[in-house]
Amino acid sequence: MPKSIKTASRLQGVSPSGLREFFEIGAKLEAKGIDVISLGIGDLDLPLPPFLGDAIADAFATGQTHYSSNAGILELRQAIVDRYESMYKLKYTPEEVLVTCGALEGLMDIMLGHINPGDRVLVQDPAFGYFANQAKIAGAEVDLIPMSPDFDLDVVKYQEAFDTKPPQMVIINSPCNPTGSVASRKNVKDIVELARDHDAIVISDECYEFLRYDGHKHTCAAEFDYENVIIANSFSKAFAMTGLRLGYIIAPVHLMQPIYQVHQYNTACAPTPIQVGAMKTLSNPKAVKGIIGSHRNVLSDRLKVALECFKPIKGFKLTYEPVAGFYLFPNVKETGMSGPEFAITLLEESGVIVVPGDQFGISYPDNIRISVGSAPPNRIREAASRITKFLEER
Ligand SMILES: Cc1ncc(COP(=O)(O)O)c(C=O)c1O
Repeated sequence: MPKSIKTASRLQGVSPSGLREFFEIGAKLEAKGIDVISLGIGDLDLPLPPFLGDAIADAFATGQTHYSSNAGILELRQAIVDRYESMYKLKYTPEEVLVTCGALEGLMDIMLGHINPGDRVLVQDPAFGYFANQAKIAGAEVDLIPMSPDFDLDVVKYQEAFDTKPPQMVIINSPCNPTGSVASRKNVKDIVELARDHDAIVISDECYEFLRYDGHKHTCAAEFDYENVIIANSFSKAFAMTGLRLGYIIAPVHLMQPIYQVHQYNTACAPTPIQVGAMKTLSNPKAVKGIIGSHRNVLSDRLKVALECFKPIKGFKLTYEPVAGFYLFPNVKETGMSGPEFAITLLEESGVIVVPGDQFGISYPDNIRISVGSAPPNRIREAASRITKFLEER
């Protein structure tokens, strides 16, 4: 490579995605004929729900395969507005909704539209690693705020961080990847208000909003103060359509304007037939209820099987049992290995992919994330027995 080619300085301090790295190693082992069990990536092996699939197919068949409005088709944005009104009594307008190529595109648009180099951004720890890295690409100085032992937002720690130096932005995520916890309503409210009192923006990633179990309630951060809150959401997880790349951002007009400006130059529009399919589905509450209900049943059953299988494993500490999402986040320190050592050795020796805790922040280097999204019960059981054998043979 010519020496004169330099990487952009904004990438300094941005780590490569470890999630992807494990995915690639697993693919190489599979290519060698090894039976790899993936408890790694946050994807679902569930088929596209038929109602949604038919609506997308119909959009293709009727030629709806061209550019659509840059902000997203109006009827989809209206369907999103209607949902937030019926679920949270929030009164957004379609101008306050931006349809994006997955939540990830929307999150990057937010960071580029709202962060100046050197701005301070608080990110909960542990959290989906993309938050901190995307904020760093936009030039932010990121400070990680540890969650409480029961994986709730720790308001005292946020208060201390604000007292030290108020940030420009706070990023929270409930239900949380990787813990499967749901933040308490009071803590979400306190953080939104703390941020509002210091003119900071709250980004609330609510991508797992629908995937809660046993009656655990979701708090939409915009319920408390619409004016300083930006919601990032996605069709990926709840509708099992990760590869179709459809998400959305909701923000009051004054916060949306810079986000929309970035989006305009980032992409022409989210894929049109997928928007049409999502719009038809969202406009049919019965279809939504059926899809979400069946996905919840499958995933909560898998989590139960996983808890049953992984809890007894010697060296695993599963003090927190997830109430949402499709992840377990056990501590494996008593195996004598750190999270990264455990994950790499397990993959190489037993063909099971898990993700080490260091991919989600700095507070949980001895944890691993186990995803059951792509593993039916028989594969979860097989993975647990491989892990037990792997540990016994050490
Ligand atoms: C918390 C969180 N936000 C966003 C995403 C990405 O969502 P999308 O597929 O809509 O880009 C993920 C994916 O794992 C996630 O866990």
